[in-house]
Amino acid sequence: MDYTQKMMQADALKGKTIVVTGGGSGLGKAMTTYFLELGANVVISSRNQEKIETTARELEAQTGGKVLAAPCDVRHYDQVEALVKQANETFGSVDILVNNAAGNFISPTERLSSNAFDTIIDIVLKGTKNCTLAFGKHWIEQKQTQKVVLNIVTTYAWTGSAYVVPSATAKAGVLAMTRSLAVEWAKYGMRFNAIAPGPFPTKGAWDRLLPGNLKEQFDLAKKVPLKRVGAHQELANLTAYLVSDFSAYINGEVITIDGGEWLKGAGQFNLLEDIPEELWDMLEAMIRAKKGS
Ligand code: COA
Repeated sequence: MDYTQKMMQADALKGKTIVVTGGGSGLGKAMTTYFLELGANVVISSRNQEKIETTARELEAQTGGKVLAAPCDVRHYDQVEALVKQANETFGSVDILVNNAAGNFISPTERLSSNAFDTIIDIVLKGTKNCTLAFGKHWIEQKQTQKVVLNIVTTYAWTGSAYVVPSATAKAGVLAMTRSLAVEWAKYGMRFNAIAPGPFPTKGAWDRLLPGNLKEQFDLAKKVPLKRVGAHQELANLTAYLVSDFSAYINGEVITIDGGEWLKGAGQFNLLEDIPEELWDMLEAMIRAKKGS
C-alpha cells in the first residue's frame, strides 16, 4: 500500500452529482477524475469553454462517467445562476458543490493595482460566495437535504502570507464563510467543510507562484517536514471522503493536508533542525552546566 492508491470503496459516490468549479485542469481535474471513478456525475465549470469541453470528453472516455462542461465565470452571479439551472436540467439535482476555482499570482502588494487586488478577491471570495449562495438558495427553496459544500482554501488563510496578500485575504474570508454556514445552514441539511492543501504541484499554480527558475531556487519540498510535495491522488482521496456520506458527521472543519508544512514555519524553535547531531552533546553539556546558577 502506498499513498498514491485510491482509498474509497468503488461505489462511494454512486448516484451523486457534483459541481467542481475550475474542474477543467490541475487539482480540480484530479478530483473530478476520482469522483467519476467512484460513480458520480460531474459538472465542471470554467471561463474557458474549450478547455472544459476537452477535459469532459477525455474524462468520459477514461472513466465511463458523465461530465457536463458548463461555461461559467464565478465572478458573475447571473452566470452562476445559469450554472445551477444547467446542472439541474442535465442531472435532475446537484448534491455536492466543490468551490475549487481560484486565481493567484505572487507580487509585492505595493505593485498591485486596485483592480489586480479586486480580481483575486472576486474570483476566490466572491466566486465562492456566488456559488454557495446560488446553490444554497436553490436547495433551501426546493427543500432538498443531504447537501455538501467543500471549499478549497490554504494554510495561509489563518497564518496570512506575504506576496500573496489578495489570495490570503480572500481565502480567510472563505474559511470564515465555511465555518459560519456550517452552523447556520445545518438546519437545511447542508454541511460545509474545507481542505487546506500544502504544495501539490500543478502547471497553472506553479507558473504563477514559482515562475522561471524560482522552482529550483525555492524547492517547496524542503519546507515540508515530510520532505516531499503532495500527490494528486492523496488530495483526491481526502476530497472524495469529505464529500461522501462516510463523512456525514464532519461539519465546519478545515483539514490540512500539507505534510506539516505550515507548522514547521510556525514553531519558535523549529529552525533548530539545522543543528547537526554531533553538536547536541556539546549543547547539552552547556545547558547542564548552568544547573543551579
Ligand atoms: N502582477 C501584477 N498585476 C497583475 C499580474 C501580475 N503578475 N497579473 C495580472 N495583474 C493585474 C492586471 O494588470 C490587471 O490589473 P489592471 O487592470 O489594473 O492592469 C488585473 O490584475 C487583472 O488582470 P487580467 O489579466 O485582466 O485578469 P483575468 O481575469 O484575465 O486573469 C488572473 C485573472 C490574473 C488571476 C489570471 O492569472 C488567471 O486567470 N488565473 C486563473 C488560474 C489561477 O490563477 N490559478 C492558480 C491558482 S493557485
